Amino acid sequence: MKVLVFLALFGLAFASVKHYNGFQVFRALPKEEAHWKAIQDLENGGNFDFWKISGKHADIMASPTRIEVLRNFLEERSIPYERIVPDVEDMITKAAQEPKVSQGPRSTRYALTWDNYYGFDTIKEFCFELAASYPQMVTTTVEGQSHEGRDMILVKISNGGAAKPAVFVDGGIHAREWISPASVTYFMRELVENYAAHPELVNNVDWYFMPVINPDGYQFSHDSDRLWRKNRRPNEDGCRGTDMNRNFGFHWNEGGSSGYGCYDTYHGGAPFSEVESQVVRDVILANADQIQAYLTVHSYGQYWLTPWGWTSDYPEDYPELFALASDAVDALTAVEGTRYTIETSTNALYMATGGSDDWAKGGAGVKYSYTLELRDTGFYGFQLPARLIMPTAVETWEAIKVVGNFIGGMKK
Ligand code: ARG
Ligand code: ZN
Repeated sequence: MKVLVFLALFGLAFASVKHYNGFQVFRALPKEEAHWKAIQDLENGGNFDFWKISGKHADIMASPTRIEVLRNFLEERSIPYERIVPDVEDMITKAAQEPKVSQGPRSTRYALTWDNYYGFDTIKEFCFELAASYPQMVTTTVEGQSHEGRDMILVKISNGGAAKPAVFVDGGIHAREWISPASVTYFMRELVENYAAHPELVNNVDWYFMPVINPDGYQFSHDSDRLWRKNRRPNEDGCRGTDMNRNFGFHWNEGGSSGYGCYDTYHGGAPFSEVESQVVRDVILANADQIQAYLTVHSYGQYWLTPWGWTSDYPEDYPELFALASDAVDALTAVEGTRYTIETSTNALYMATGGSDDWAKGGAGVKYSYTLELRDTGFYGFQLPARLIMPTAVETWEAIKVVGNFIGGMKK
């Protein structure tokens, strides 16, 4: 009897976790137009998880039964490639087992730290604790519920008075990009708990933070599938999830997204079909006359991206967007030499429509709209070890300060 109960519990605890034994990741290095075309076709075929495509290479994950298919595909077309991850499961286990180096700030008031990754509830606790301890500066509100009923949390950092120019920052739109909420919560903590080091950042700017805008997907990537990207709402075809970053209503479904609910870049049934993207839209629109900068934090690749993602054309104010981005990136790079590429997303990566950055600029009129792709350039990819949270958050914070100071009108 005991054995049966044990087996039943064991089954419950483990049956729902997706494993990646024998999955491998290859980096294809296309050299000519025909190669790029073939890579695009391969992505649209939907048989492989494209971890990343940039103007330089494509990181493609293959399941054990598709490894040979992928290699043959690349070899037949003479597309150079290398294997960058010999076993994805191994990589996930190693990242989870890595001994934790205690570093970064910690508090007795909340469990969140920046030397480990945490589930949604720990981040939520942090958001509410921050407001409870600093009521004059922090207002934490619940702006709605995700499909599975998790809170869509908004943290406003402001010292009151008349509305100031504002910066809006979101994180965790893509579930598996764990460094994003980890870094965004670090920025929040810096502004509030380290206020005295840079009071002008709060005195001259109002800040809006939504550290996890895809809470269901984020939690699912902790509990069940480390490489989950989308939200978790069931689609008509039996698969789950919409790519939130293809669901925003500006040039929606005009390329670089998929109409198949099983694909990782599924754009959803309509613009803003998802409750989570609706909530983000509504928060931004409600404060649109204040918000001057929109930062949406992703990983990986080390890119500071500007609109547009729907066209290879440059926005007409690109020189201004580029100037602020390069000041920000200079400050980031000065910390320990981490290099970033500044470009429009179409020209740096690929065309992808329905992105939140394009909507923020084109739909909500936020001039300085950026997508940040944090560390690394592909060695660890989404499984950036926890010991690199602090270095990543600290260097990126330098860039965020540049944006805040600019928006606050202290510079130029
Ligand atoms: N890696 C991000 C994505 O694929 C980049 C988004 C850039 N923005 C855009 N509008 N395409 O979602
Ligand atoms: Zn992303």
